Amino acid sequence: MFSNEADHRRLVERARQVLSADVFDFYAGGAGDETTLAANETSWRGVRLRPRVLRDVSLIDPRVTVLGRELTVPVGVAPVGYQTLAHPEGEVAMARGARRAGALLTVSSRSSRRIEEVAAEAGPWWFQAYVMRDHGLTRELVRRAAAAGATAIVLTGDTPYLGRRRRDRDAGLIPDEVFGVNLGAGFDRALAEQAPDVTYADVARLRDVSGLPVVVKGVLRGDDARECVAAGASGVWVSNHGGRQLDGAIPTAEALPEVADAVGDAAEVYADGGVRTGVDVLRALALGARMVFVGRPALWCLAVGGAEAVAAGLTELNGALSRAMGLAGAATTAEITRELARSPLGIPWRSEGQTTDPAT
Ligand SMILES: Cc1cc2nc3c(=O)[nH]c(=O)nc-3n(C[C@H](O)[C@H](O)[C@H](O)COP(=O)(O)O)c2cc1C
Repeated sequence: MFSNEADHRRLVERARQVLSADVFDFYAGGAGDETTLAANETSWRGVRLRPRVLRDVSLIDPRVTVLGRELTVPVGVAPVGYQTLAHPEGEVAMARGARRAGALLTVSSRSSRRIEEVAAEAGPWWFQAYVMRDHGLTRELVRRAAAAGATAIVLTGDTPYLGRRRRDRDAGLIPDEVFGVNLGAGFDRALAEQAPDVTYADVARLRDVSGLPVVVKGVLRGDDARECVAAGASGVWVSNHGGRQLDGAIPTAEALPEVADAVGDAAEVYADGGVRTGVDVLRALALGARMVFVGRPALWCLAVGGAEAVAAGLTELNGALSRAMGLAGAATTAEITRELARSPLGIPWRSEGQTTDPAT
């Protein structure tokens, strides 16, 4: 992450040195030929910025309101499972680091620390739900998350089955003790796998069980985004699961404008996938995201230095965003509008009466 891609590459190399090859590859890898994994990063680079000049940017204010709550920065940590593989304190250290940096945290259904322990160290946090084959397990987890202080439920919609990842060579990498930390004694692993029969009806079910707003994660199309909103979602999270599910799926930088246009003011839009620098965050906000999440970069920080490195990494990313905002002539996140960017090369969009890329 952070100021530039070279910083990010150095971070990845440091993580590679401290992690076993199996764990590093499990985290770093993507599905199939990893075309979506690679395209996620490169597509942001294709988004050209159109900075404004002679704006008073003496005070940069990166605050943002998300689901009615003011956050100090528009950058959050995406849900990533099994973090004790990266660091002995796992999700607890991630929570502490995110809180120190003012970053919203998303806790995975596959957290390898108990959600209540993570919540005790967290600032604002959301809980990510997989609908599991035994739907009762999901209801129970979501109720526990709400009781522990989660402020939204993130329903991951892109994982009816797990993508095939060629770098995952060790079938025993996630033992039952890690997989089932939040599932109670004697759980049946097959029943806790992701359910392929998850549908839009689960949005309202999760909202009713938790009493919390529901965000759908993994949306890549405008029509799906509208269906999510019609089904009761308060937010739509543009994601291809970091290139780990359908290889060949559209990179998020390309999907985001379509989703943002389809949703309009009916719900909030967030994005993740390949965001590595402050400029990438700016690009995503310009293309219509209210909030941006990072997955692997936060994991690499956790691996190399626990909570302290997570806090430092996220703080650096936020600093880089503020610098980019100033240079783009946007003093507040509200001033980061679509006209600040042009879409990835060759991909036109529609916005506010425009039928083509405003720069063409
Ligand atoms: C090791 C790993 C585990 C993940 N676990 C989950 C998960 O449990 N639930 C989920 O919704 N997404 C999961 N994701 C996807 C992330 O939430 C996020 O969409 C993705 O990592 C963003 O891309 P980035 O890593 O390029 O920032 C995981 C990603 C990785 C790399």
